[in-house]
Amino acid sequence: SERKPMMAANWKMNKTVREAEDYVAKLLPRVSDATDEVDVAVFAPFTSLPTVGRMTQDAAVIAGAQNLYFEDSGAYTGEVSAPMLKDVGTGAVIVGHSERREIFGETDETVARKAAKALEAGLVPIVCVGETKEERDAGGMWDKVSGQVRAVMEALDGPSGDAVVFAYEPIWAIGTGETASPEDAQEAIGQIRGLLGELGGEEFAGSVRILYGGSIKPSNAADIMAQDDVDGGLVGGASLEAESFVELVEAAR
Ligand code: G3H
Repeated sequence: SERKPMMAANWKMNKTVREAEDYVAKLLPRVSDATDEVDVAVFAPFTSLPTVGRMTQDAAVIAGAQNLYFEDSGAYTGEVSAPMLKDVGTGAVIVGHSERREIFGETDETVARKAAKALEAGLVPIVCVGETKEERDAGGMWDKVSGQVRAVMEALDGPSGDAVVFAYEPIWAIGTGETASPEDAQEAIGQIRGLLGELGGEEFAGSVRILYGGSIKPSNAADIMAQDDVDGGLVGGASLEAESFVELVEAAR
């Protein structure tokens, strides 16, 4: 397709500054050839993000944050804003990860406001959607996922396809070792692309990237990445070692 794949490492709540430095130092030389073909992004905790931002400044690797707040500044103890992220070299930000929604009470509304703020600030929001095991078993997968996609699209003002990225992450596949089959990933992501066509037009739907996330590892990545509508991966566990993440970048080429 005309869409450039993206391979994204989501470190979640892992790594000291020193560990982040070691990782990025290993990663950069090993992906420098691949970045023409694949967007490589590292989503670091706020504490090591300035380090990752500085180290990737002259490389084609994107420094990413795992969250942001939707106001620019003010009395919001514990929060970090889009301009603050920009200031330390951040290019992208994960919005509405299922862990944020499930553990920290984020709603479709806060996720939509965060996505809109990121876009306005020139950060690429990686908008996460996905259903729980219970929802899937009860036949409610599409209700859940389509609602999440609609809420975000309603808050964005006719975004272009390269300004926003979606990630389909079935919650039952996150950190469980239980990956969606390549066919299930393709089916869900194809459905999401269809809905994005209805909501944002065919040009948008054809150019917007949709990633899969959930227990991606070097042994299953190639089959998932080979699916027509799957434009890359958002990876937790298997992204924590630079060596293994490099293999995933290679699988997306
Ligand atoms: O953001 C990444 C996803 O939550 C997937 O995590 O690769 O550890 O299953 P995982």
